[in-house]
Amino acid sequence: MEPNAWTPGSWRERPATQQPDWPDEAALESALKQLTGMPPLVFAGEARQLTASLADAAEGRAFLLQAGDCAESFGDFSADAIRDKLKVILQMAIVLTYGAGVPVVKVGRIAGQFAKPRSSPTELVGDVELPSFRGHIVNSDAPDAESRVADPSRLVGAYHQSAATLNLVRAFTKGGFADLNKVHVWNQQFVASSAEGRRYELIAAEIERAIRFMKACGILVESEARLREVDFYTSHEALLLGYEESLTRLDSLSGDWYDCSAHMLWVGDRTRELDGAHIEFLAGVRNPIGCKIGPTATVDEVLGICERLDPDRVPGRLTLISRMGVKRIAESLPPLLGAVRQAGHPVVWACDPMHGNTFVSAGGRKTRHFDDVMGEIELFFAACRAEGTWPGGVHVELTGDDVTECLGGAEEILDLEVRYTSACDPRLNGRQSLDLAFRVAELLRA
Ligand code: PEP
Ligand code: CO
Repeated sequence: MEPNAWTPGSWRERPATQQPDWPDEAALESALKQLTGMPPLVFAGEARQLTASLADAAEGRAFLLQAGDCAESFGDFSADAIRDKLKVILQMAIVLTYGAGVPVVKVGRIAGQFAKPRSSPTELVGDVELPSFRGHIVNSDAPDAESRVADPSRLVGAYHQSAATLNLVRAFTKGGFADLNKVHVWNQQFVASSAEGRRYELIAAEIERAIRFMKACGILVESEARLREVDFYTSHEALLLGYEESLTRLDSLSGDWYDCSAHMLWVGDRTRELDGAHIEFLAGVRNPIGCKIGPTATVDEVLGICERLDPDRVPGRLTLISRMGVKRIAESLPPLLGAVRQAGHPVVWACDPMHGNTFVSAGGRKTRHFDDVMGEIELFFAACRAEGTWPGGVHVELTGDDVTECLGGAEEILDLEVRYTSACDPRLNGRQSLDLAFRVAELLRA
């Protein structure tokens, strides 16, 4: 297809997969119009800052930690849940920074991660066939036909929940909660009592001792913003293109277009066709962009994506997120790493060890085993090292809640039924997340 001049709406000329069937066209238009008039959620300058930090990860001087829910939920929305998720991510970042001595770029799957691609337009609930649940930005997960109808007013609801979430994230990360003097406070009770929690306490105690030492030397620790505040960025899958288009704004400083729904957007493994609408849309916004790369991706496809999304070869602009599965990564990833390196694309390579390792348990729950998750990360590090590529980050689904959605881990979760609350894919709980961070820090040090 001949490329036309890019506009925020030029994706409409291309095939857009995974878009809901909105039954009420007028209601959809009216919701999108309303969003077009709303304030941006993030600023272009912040997105540029994230690109600069990701450039460090592309060039081997930093590590990306991208983490959060598979799908945020309209139902499970509370200050406590947001705070607890932040605690876990901050703890992981501390373990990685302290353990590996590498700066960590912190990006949440948060404040906008609502829309879900589905492998089938319908799903069986019991023996009834219903339209698939597509995330709370589209429909309800309740198991009846009426709840599954795509409702455009949810687009506006998702915007407001994103705004409230982001407001709290900004308050927590800039208003004192992320202060390095508070490292102990992030260790939640159910984590602190575990082996990983105790290991974390040792690091926290060392950091406190280091801060006391700096104070004793006369360093004004209180006025040092880098010890008191954290740069924390938001991201989600740019799946619903009408929503993303409505929040896309021309930056007056640079004259460039930015999708102001989040700092970073990614395109999923199911929607990354080169001639498709999703790649068209993301090609024209200047935010840092991620692209999921699954086991069916060919060298030509990946090089095409690099060329299309980062023709100017800007370090930090593009993050390729490998999600091959533990059984396939050793075979699928190395040719892609080699081709991208030889073509000279300055991408961040990150590992999503979750989406290639999902299976249905005997009890009918979608789950993942911690050993498969860690196994894929280890093989990712090995493949990167063999190809002379910096292993630039991890992308994980987690929650601060004490859930039982992924099997295994040091505490050996065996029974998924105890606390399974995910709105979509199974997430690591706080202990499993911290365990993963310690192991990744060891891999980074090696
Ligand atoms: C996800 O990140 O939740 C997801 C659906 O990923 P993928 O596109 O890699 O399947
Ligand atoms: Co998921």
